[in-house]
Amino acid sequence: MSQREKTVLVGLHRPTVKRYMVEDSLEELAQLVATAGGQECGRIIQERDKPTPAYYIGKGKAQELAAWCKSRHIEMVVFDEELSPSQQHNLEKVIQCKVLDRTGLILDVFARHARSREGQLQVELAQLKYMLPRLMGKGVELSRLGAGIGTRGPGETKLETDRRRIKRRINHIQYKLGQVRRQRQLYRCKRQSVPMPVVALVGYTNAGKSTLMNALTDAGVLVQDKLFATLDPTTRRLQLPNHQTVLLSDTVGFIRKLPHQLIEAFKATLEEVAEADLLLHVIDASHFEMNEQAQTVREILRELGLEEKPCIPVLNKIDRFKHRNTVNCLFARIPGACAVSALKRTGLEELLNRIAAELRRLSCGRRTDLALSLPYEQSDLLALLHQKGQVLKIEYLPDRMLVEARTDSHTAGIIRQQLQHSDGMREQIGLPGR
Ligand code: GTP
Repeated sequence: MSQREKTVLVGLHRPTVKRYMVEDSLEELAQLVATAGGQECGRIIQERDKPTPAYYIGKGKAQELAAWCKSRHIEMVVFDEELSPSQQHNLEKVIQCKVLDRTGLILDVFARHARSREGQLQVELAQLKYMLPRLMGKGVELSRLGAGIGTRGPGETKLETDRRRIKRRINHIQYKLGQVRRQRQLYRCKRQSVPMPVVALVGYTNAGKSTLMNALTDAGVLVQDKLFATLDPTTRRLQLPNHQTVLLSDTVGFIRKLPHQLIEAFKATLEEVAEADLLLHVIDASHFEMNEQAQTVREILRELGLEEKPCIPVLNKIDRFKHRNTVNCLFARIPGACAVSALKRTGLEELLNRIAAELRRLSCGRRTDLALSLPYEQSDLLALLHQKGQVLKIEYLPDRMLVEARTDSHTAGIIRQQLQHSDGMREQIGLPGR
């Protein structure tokens, strides 16, 4: 983009909605503009029953806005909702500068932050689908708008391409994503052959998911006080206090009015969430819109068909509260929550215990106690037990080891299978719980 594009934000206040909600949404839009590298130069809220089909805001207001923008050399106007292609087109004609909507802006931020090939493909797919109806009959005009916010990713090179070429590109990306998806499935099958429960972090953008991931696993995930700093899923091993190993996945952050093109495009990435045994819903407890953000996340999970997934709400950033009483009040609002500060690394032990307890309740790590007679040539099974469970006792005999261990039922099944042709499985005993 050009240096810090001068930007104005526009919202619409309908009588059915509380005004502060429109203001809060604009505040978030301002953060998105800053994340995209723009410079906010003002906010406008118009009171209207509903958007007009031609200009979204009234025609008079659009003309007024045009004059205002001209006098202040504004380069871009961003609307806080999705504009129809014709509204966007008409507004550009009147205002004579680049017009973007919330969807276009979010797509731009995503295009900027996608790092992996898959992430880039997903964002490009979403952008192309968004762009397709907007290109009809106005390719030349759009290409004249030049570079900057809303034109990154495929925009810079493909705005001038015709509809057919874009469709071809969409097909190509879908094919490529299909390949990536198959690879993922293979990887997942492999992973499931040595099964470990998967715990996925979900949450509103900037809630502190990556910070928590780093605090729990030293994963080195990018942490920034910006929206959507992380787009690509990261998965790391995490050992729980009961020695059970789980996989912890950090995924893309959610935001209200998340463009449906993006949800569609990111479905493959979000499969990590779909496949998880347990979700940790990270909530920025210090945010004044904590409840709304938590609700948005729940709604998106519902949209993804995941509302029934077992979930532990994690109230993060509690270091920002001076009084414990405040945290207690938050507990009342989000029942069953765990309070942590990912930054100060407090409350993590309790969170880990909660994860272990929840997985136990879900039987993901159903405990099986084993007493084995392991020949030395099968010491890889001992390694597996160390990795996937708890070795309680080992006795080394000249030709074999006598091992007492506790592991999940799946690993126990694998070990049984490996030993069934030898006499390694002495007996399965139920050791008293420790
Ligand atoms: P996205 O990538 O946008 O989804 O964000 P995220 O949820 O991964 O948030 P991230 O971990 O990048 O943190 C966002 C900001 O919140 C950073 O500036 C962190 O330093 C800050 N932060 C995270 N956890 C805490 C916390 O416990 N206390 C405080 N005070 N700040 C925190």
